[in-house]
Amino acid sequence: MPGYAVIGGQWGDEGKGKIIDFLSQNAGIVARYSGGNNAGHTVINEFGEFKLHLVPAGICWPQTTCVVGNGVVIDIDVIKQELEELRTRGIDISKLQISDRAHIIMPYHIALDQFEERARKGRALGTTGRGVGPAYVDKAARIGIRVAELLNTKALSGQLENILDHKNALITKIYNEKPFSAKEMYEQCLSWAEWLKPFVHPVEQTARLALKNGENVLIEGAQGSLLDLDHGTYPFVTSSNPTVGGISTGLGIGPGSLKKIIGIYKAYTTRVGSGPMPSELDEATGALIRERAGEYGATTGRARRCGWFDAVAAHYSVEVNDFTGAILTRLDVLDGFPIVKVCVGYEINGTVTNQFPTNSTILSECKPIYEELPGWDQPTAGLTRWEDLPKLAKKYIEFLQEAMGCPIDLISTGPHRKETIVVRPIME
Ligand code: GDP
Ligand code: IMO
Ligand code: MG
Repeated sequence: MPGYAVIGGQWGDEGKGKIIDFLSQNAGIVARYSGGNNAGHTVINEFGEFKLHLVPAGICWPQTTCVVGNGVVIDIDVIKQELEELRTRGIDISKLQISDRAHIIMPYHIALDQFEERARKGRALGTTGRGVGPAYVDKAARIGIRVAELLNTKALSGQLENILDHKNALITKIYNEKPFSAKEMYEQCLSWAEWLKPFVHPVEQTARLALKNGENVLIEGAQGSLLDLDHGTYPFVTSSNPTVGGISTGLGIGPGSLKKIIGIYKAYTTRVGSGPMPSELDEATGALIRERAGEYGATTGRARRCGWFDAVAAHYSVEVNDFTGAILTRLDVLDGFPIVKVCVGYEINGTVTNQFPTNSTILSECKPIYEELPGWDQPTAGLTRWEDLPKLAKKYIEFLQEAMGCPIDLISTGPHRKETIVVRPIME
């Protein structure tokens, strides 16, 4: 069963877009299974640079069918604009398939995301404000609108009136904001439905059939394991399951379909939004990495918090996902640092642990214990062969493998598709 998953091992932005674009050369299907347009996946190849939020990052290859699974929440205006841009830049979008079971991010979800953040005051989560959390809330509350409901326009009008009775009460009475009009919303939905129709498919069947036929199915994670609703740093998480379990529920394929489950990690750590991050650097050193690496969010443009590689957190995400291998990105960003540090343990109230705490307040009190390694003088930027890496960069990679307990199969040395070292091929 040739399913290959690439899942963020940290707090997102590990370079999934770049690696999915690279690996897609050997894929028949490339599929998203969770999250929404809170994701921002950067792809740089011969067609230029793309920031993808909902369209899978395999879209630039002619042989791939790109699939948006049922576990994804979709802002129709965003995917429409994204596809339009791809089309005008010469990319064939005709093979994109969107699940009829995927939920729609409605305008009131976006409004509620912002109102809820405002109401949290000093305890705001730092969401992307794209309505993703409220859309998943409605999915669980069984009042969501899926693509299938959107297309069944006859029943939709009554359904919308019902939902808006409830949402408008919340919006006007709790948040003192203006209500949404059911009539306007219905008209908006009619126009979305018309545009969406040609892309809608039972994509779970597409994925299952491809697996049955022995085609490679590449599964593109969004967000990262430490943002997982169940396994992440709750409540500073997203509202879906980026970890491996999300693939079965979000794409309709069984766990036995996965031949490899690959974790993707930056050579250091970043986080956008609120929440604990034990290896976060002080402002000056963090800014050094941020400026050198351009660590600004692909979705919101916010400055990313930067820190050293956290091997305690990385080992935890290896275990949660049962990673069979790992990918290390942005190695080049560390070029020229005299010393590189790796967090190998946490100290809490005088006790040392290598377990990742469940409670976010406790995690925020953890002091990192670092192993210091010598940095490397010669650049790794743009290298494509393991043999060419500086000896000390190899030592750093070997140290990370050991500390996280997972072999590193691929190393990325730059944002362009070509700037990649294959240590062991991931897909045949
Ligand atoms: P994603 O959300 O996991 O797809 O990652 P993002 O696209 O949000 O952020 C990763 C950033 O790192 C993007 O700007 C990429 O172009 C860039 N990038 C990816 N791999 C490398 C690499 O190996 N070296 C450098 N310097 N940049 C990289
Ligand atoms: P990619 O796929 C980094 C973060 C937000 C916030 C928290 C909750 O590009 O790696 P949400 O809008 O999901 O309710 O916000 O999750 N977050 C991400 N951080 N990369 C992402 O996606 C993210 N998607 C959500 O910053 O802290
Ligand atoms: Mg991103």
